[in-house]
Amino acid sequence: MNYHIITFGCQMNVADSEWIARSLQDMGGRETSVPEAEVILVNTCSVREKPEHKLRTALGRIARETEGRKDVLVAVTGCVAQQLGENIFSCSPQVRLVAGTDTVASIPANIAWLRANPDRHLCTTGFEKDMTERPTPLTGHTGPTALVNIMQGCDNFCTYCIVPFTRGRQKSRAARAILAECQALIDQGVKDITLLGQNVNAYGKDKTGDGTSFAELLRLVAGLDPSLRLRYVTPHPKDMTPEDVAAFAEIPNLCPRLHLPMQAGADRVLKRMNRRYDSATYLALVEDLRRARPDIALSTDILVGFPGETEEEFLETMDMVRRCNFMSSFSFCYSDRPGTRASTFLDKIPQNVQLDRLQRLQALQEDLSMAWLNARTGCETTVLVEEPSPRQDENSDMVSWQGRDPYGALVHVALKDPNPAGKYVRVRISHAFRHSLQGTVLAE
Ligand code: SAH
Ligand code: SF4
Ligand code: F3S
Repeated sequence: MNYHIITFGCQMNVADSEWIARSLQDMGGRETSVPEAEVILVNTCSVREKPEHKLRTALGRIARETEGRKDVLVAVTGCVAQQLGENIFSCSPQVRLVAGTDTVASIPANIAWLRANPDRHLCTTGFEKDMTERPTPLTGHTGPTALVNIMQGCDNFCTYCIVPFTRGRQKSRAARAILAECQALIDQGVKDITLLGQNVNAYGKDKTGDGTSFAELLRLVAGLDPSLRLRYVTPHPKDMTPEDVAAFAEIPNLCPRLHLPMQAGADRVLKRMNRRYDSATYLALVEDLRRARPDIALSTDILVGFPGETEEEFLETMDMVRRCNFMSSFSFCYSDRPGTRASTFLDKIPQNVQLDRLQRLQALQEDLSMAWLNARTGCETTVLVEEPSPRQDENSDMVSWQGRDPYGALVHVALKDPNPAGKYVRVRISHAFRHSLQGTVLAE
């Protein structure tokens, strides 16, 4: 069976798509381009603007590229599938499976059943009480980095956000299942694991927790292999415990990098967003983190133009971004999501004002990012080599590779080793590009 997966959205979706791909491979599947595929999955995201439009565009493209073929089965999965359910069948006659976010584990079997029953359709959008344990594929992982899901859902109900509706209530995965998956990945050569969840540091604080705290989980995973690099995403500032902060000082292979969504700098806006921290608490947390790990690199998410945000309040966000000195940030214009509290707020900000704020924020971030990258030149660091770099030097007989340093920055480096993927190399940073670094190898 030839398959193709189109993935939108966050790392949760990337991880789900990877699991589906490996399960389909276990059933004899082979990844191909759309025109050759018999099974095509569209894994959707609804967090920002026009998700339904993106789905329709993807379905239109699939219909064109598979025209005249009757054997094609299209499955729509992820957050738009959860939201729209059976309505999606009317978008395209090719769609025969709509699978919500909590039914990923049943997708491979349901695809097999639908292929044996060509007149049938299936829509699975229920939520389970416990976290469904998916069988861990023991082989087939490629590359030195991996994502490992530790929880599902989110209970925070930030007023702008659709995730609690599309992913359901928070459910933590048993620590032993997480450890078994990490060990299986390490056995396959993985050197860099990112623990995943919409609110990772609330891990264990729900009915399905097994008593293991997030800080304990970090210690357990880090302890599996001292040469492993451990990261996690996404934590919520209000749930960062002193133990989580101390972990940066105490666990040597926990990477000195943290993505800590701030969303806004003004306290009134944070309150209306239901973020449950204020700017002073956020700043104090940043200081604590820097005390625990002076070189920690921080990145963030910012939402501009939240309903009612004034120019002064936006300037407070700019000020916080400067004071926190983020190495990078993702920033977005606010967009109404159906069913959220903020979508009922009346004081919406015009699109042109939102865009103007976004541009000013992004210009500031470009400067901060560039300064952070420039400050790295001359430093020695260790790069985990991932793949050949798109930046090749035609005058050199060495191949240029790319990988990440402990801060998660992309580093290009020319190497003699014909097969360096998955290995650590010591490099000295020689040059900063706009979004990445150039290094020269110190020892191979
Ligand atoms: N759980 C994470 C990520 C949530 S979604 C967190 O708490 O940060 C990723 C980002 O999308 C958010 O951090 C937010 O900045 C942005 N986002 C979420 N809803 C949005 C909306 N309605 N409009 C614009 N951006 C939004
Ligand atoms: Fe959305 Fe807030 Fe949950 Fe993040 S913490 S997923 S922004 S509700
Ligand atoms: Fe998008 Fe769903 Fe992730 S809405 S950001 S794919 S949780």
